[in-house]
Amino acid sequence: MSDKLIIFDTTLRDGEQSPGASMTKDEKVRIAKSLERMHVDIIEAGFPIASVGDFESVQAVANTVTESRVCGLARALDNDIDRAGEALKGANASRIHTFIATSPIHMKMKLRMEPDQVIENAVKAVKRARRYTDDVEFSPEDAGRSESDFLCRILEAVIDAGATTLNIPDTVGYNLPHQFGQLIYDLRERIPNSDKAIFSVHCHNDLGLAVANSLSAVLNGAPQVECTINGLGERAGNAALEELVMAVRTRQDMFSCDTNIDTTQILAASRLVSGITGFVVQPNKAIVGANAFAHESGIHQDGVLKSRETYEIMRAEDVGWNTNRMVLGKHSGRNAFRTRLEELGIEFESEKDLNIAFRRFKELADKKHEVFDEDLQALVSDTIPLENERVRLISLKVCSETGEIPVALVTLIVDDEEKQIEMAGSGPVDAAFRAIEDIVQSNTELQLYSVNNITSGTDSQGEVNVRLEKGGRIVSGQGADTDIVIASAKAYINALNKILVPVDRAHPQV
Ligand code: KIV
Ligand code: ZN
Repeated sequence: MSDKLIIFDTTLRDGEQSPGASMTKDEKVRIAKSLERMHVDIIEAGFPIASVGDFESVQAVANTVTESRVCGLARALDNDIDRAGEALKGANASRIHTFIATSPIHMKMKLRMEPDQVIENAVKAVKRARRYTDDVEFSPEDAGRSESDFLCRILEAVIDAGATTLNIPDTVGYNLPHQFGQLIYDLRERIPNSDKAIFSVHCHNDLGLAVANSLSAVLNGAPQVECTINGLGERAGNAALEELVMAVRTRQDMFSCDTNIDTTQILAASRLVSGITGFVVQPNKAIVGANAFAHESGIHQDGVLKSRETYEIMRAEDVGWNTNRMVLGKHSGRNAFRTRLEELGIEFESEKDLNIAFRRFKELADKKHEVFDEDLQALVSDTIPLENERVRLISLKVCSETGEIPVALVTLIVDDEEKQIEMAGSGPVDAAFRAIEDIVQSNTELQLYSVNNITSGTDSQGEVNVRLEKGGRIVSGQGADTDIVIASAKAYINALNKILVPVDRAHPQV
């Protein structure tokens, strides 16, 4: 029987640190439910001291999730730890994850502390966290560039102080697989009390090695890996959950451990995270990319038809492709609609919200005969209003004709006041965006505009992603509709509603 590999997901914390990937409380709860359904062991729900919104999000996840352990991040500071302890009060099982930097460059330039002071702070933080929970994780930030002797000293001290998990982060993604594996091996060998704690790794993907480094650590005895859905995360991201889980599952000849993950839930989680954050999954992405199981060349197709193992090392249905795919149509009733949403982990707070969603579903089913799970996910994102929504689209009319300048007539409600304007543009989307900006006067900069079809066919809904920047803050907005100009306007307004709410938010690692 193989040992258990613990999956610690940090999509809601490190994943959210990607510029433009911020999520609302409701969105975080939806993702947390999907992680729980997948049997993720630990969900890092956020950094509670960052802002009131972050605190409330961690609290909401802690109060909702019952099967997975819920974790909150805290720097090695009293207030951070108290805030995390407070946010996690309602959790069935909680963990506080506290960290302090240990590399020479971080200690000198960022913390401006002597190594002994760093150890003192780490020990104090772990002891304080233990007042709230008996499950405390400690990370020596930038361990991948820290001195091995110093790591041994600090880790031995935090185990004595009560840390139950030691997470070794390659914060800047600098390590190579054999080197990182060796580091884990050495730490386990050299720290006298290392058997009293669980070793974990947290690898960033700056050199594209996050998954390889994590797997090398697992082969060297790390029983926990930290990862995110679609590899979302700071800069080039974190190790992708789906890749780690499937590598270990597929290569059981190499690993003496396996995860508890229900892999058939992977694709749904990937789509949910991508839809909510607007971080589109590249077609050739392993496991969850549109081409991951597609066979283009005739030779491959022939081989796969004769015997799938010729070119496939995993079964597409094992990660959620082509399974449980229920199609709804215009004759589907409210009950079928509600049941399918529940199966997708989507629940509405009130009957009123369900009714609005059902009405939108009927409108969509009228335009598009078959409504797929992906359509339902997009429809729900569209239905649940943002907290603090200030701008609402009432109507949009565009005129676009060969040889003529496109014109858009937009009606919005802004702070309860109806406003209408007509503007010309280089295309219908440009005209619509200009009109919206003229009304709202947000002074934001459009950084990204992209359109993808949610499902195949020309009657598919277009899903639009918009990324806006203002004063260094980046937000993304999404909108879906069978009419891509309307989808574009919805996405733009969705992003505006996020950027118009000022946030004062601390970043854990700055
Ligand atoms: O990358 C990192 O070092 C982190 C820590 C907070 C664990 O995210
Ligand atoms: Zn990180």
